[in-house]
Parts: sequence; structure tokens; C-alpha cells
Amino acid sequence: MKLPKIEILDEKNKILREVSKEVTFPLPNEDKKMIKDMIDYLTLSQIEEERKKYDLRAGMGLSAVQIGVLKRIFVIVEEVEHEKFKNYIIINPKIISYSEEQIYVGEGEGCLSINREVEGIVPRYARITVEAYDELGHKFQIRVREDIAIAFQHEIDHLNGILFIDHIDPKNPFKNQEKMREI
Ligand code: NI
Repeated sequence: MKLPKIEILDEKNKILREVSKEVTFPLPNEDKKMIKDMIDYLTLSQIEEERKKYDLRAGMGLSAVQIGVLKRIFVIVEEVEHEKFKNYIIINPKIISYSEEQIYVGEGEGCLSINREVEGIVPRYARITVEAYDELGHKFQIRVREDIAIAFQHEIDHLNGILFIDHIDPKNPFKNQEKMREI
């Protein structure tokens, strides 16, 4: 696997604040290529040797807007076993139901577009059901939980121009911590 030539935009870039547009099918080849590049990038970033070789930050999710494409597409790469990965390709997602329970990442959420330390709690639903389309334009539903549910919510935020830091109150970054479960 070669490192794809993609540039991930930093939070200073205003494109990240725009709302991405719904995708129509069939998907053009350039979008299929973009999806493959995004998956390859995330996969390499999760393999220690490759990460060091290319000086990458580890990431599990990436939205098209983060590489400057305002389309409602994101990918998530989950390491299910040592260096064995499961890919999620999610197009035009909608959250159709969510759990009452909320969770947060104890060590703080991260984002490949945010290149600084940000402390604080980002409340997320522990479980969500999402309706979306695959690359061929087939509609499907997926129920996700825990870290994958957080990743989905983080990426859906990107499609709406929202960054995880927007959920943190700088005056009280650990607000409501006791009402949520840490993961
Ligand atoms: Ni992000």
C-alpha cells in the first residue's frame, strides 16, 4: 500500500465550517478513488511502522470535507485484530435513533484537522442507528456502539461543518462529566 497523495486541511481552513452536500449516484470514479485514498491513509496511519515512516498521526475517521471535498462522505477504519482492519464507507448518513446513555472519550477526542491539544468532554450517544448509502447507492442501516458510535458522530459533525472542539465549553470543559460514562 502506497501513501496516497492527500492533504488534510487544518481547522484554520474555513471549508471545514461548510455544510457538505448530499451525494447522487452513480458515484463518479474520482469519488471512488478518493474513498480508497482516505481508507489507505487511515490504514497506514494505524500501522506503527508505516506511521513512523511517513510521519503520520494515527486516525480512525476521515470526512471528504477534510480533504476539501464538500460531499457527504466519510470513512472509518477500525483495527479489529492486530493489523486487521474493518472499513466503513458511509454516504449521505442520517442518525435515525440513538441511546439515552451518553459517553465520552476519557483521554479526549482527536481529529486529524486539529493539530493541538484540546482538553474537555465531548458528549456522544453510546449507541446510534444510522441510515446511509454504500458506494453503489444501496441504502442500508447500521447500528454502532462505543468508540465506533463516537467516530460516526464525530464524522457526521464534519459533514455539517462542526468540529469536536465546538462541543467543549472553554470555561467549563468537564461540564456534566458525572452524567456520562467514560470510555
Ligand atoms: Ni475529525
